[in-house]
Amino acid sequence: MLTLKDIRQNKNFQTMIAKANEYLRARGYTEHGMRHVTFVSHKTAQIMRDLGFDERMVEIAAITGYLHDIGNMHNRKHHGVTGANIVFAELRNMGMDIEEVATITTAIANHEEEIGEPISPLTAALILADKSDAHRTRVHRLHAGPPDIHDRVNLAIEDSDLFVDTENGTITLDITFDQSISQVMDYFEIYLKRMEMCKQAAAVLNSRFRLVINELELLGHVETQHYQKTEA
Ligand SMILES: [Fe+2]
Ligand SMILES: [Fe+2]
Repeated sequence: MLTLKDIRQNKNFQTMIAKANEYLRARGYTEHGMRHVTFVSHKTAQIMRDLGFDERMVEIAAITGYLHDIGNMHNRKHHGVTGANIVFAELRNMGMDIEEVATITTAIANHEEEIGEPISPLTAALILADKSDAHRTRVHRLHAGPPDIHDRVNLAIEDSDLFVDTENGTITLDITFDQSISQVMDYFEIYLKRMEMCKQAAAVLNSRFRLVINELELLGHVETQHYQKTEA
């Protein structure tokens, strides 16, 4: 059975990951190269492992994370679906079982909020891993002039960590945000849709999504008592 090691040794995949990053750099997007896909590979696998999936599924998750952004070498738009088609052909050429290939490519095709939805546990884990990778080191500073809102928000993220707590049934994205660089409202302005997708993804994994910024829980409160309006 193919492992992440086999996939990482595939020169075609290495080239496609580099090309995807080149394309996005030219268009002013944040870093999507080997660092990003390695992070997402580890994180997707870790989520699946923490939730108790078997070792083969954890390996499949690591492969999916590594290959998820290849579609960006053609265009950002619909890169989940285009990437899934490219990965499908390459993995079949490498002799991977059709059932495993389909599991991987369905997750890749659905990882972006543009048209995707967390339709399986693997897709949900990939979405959470991918969206948790926002960090100041990802900013490509190619364009002249002051940083735009995406750059400012990413530059403001000093630290970010996503972790599963099986005891409490939560998946937490914990961010340290430098408010001298950007406002937390800017974060929500550009990432609200993503955070909604993370909530849906966590639900597919039978968990509650928590977003914590500078130790404040901004999403994920358990509904307790609603304020009761009384007539005077
Ligand atoms: Fe993507
Ligand atoms: Fe990504």
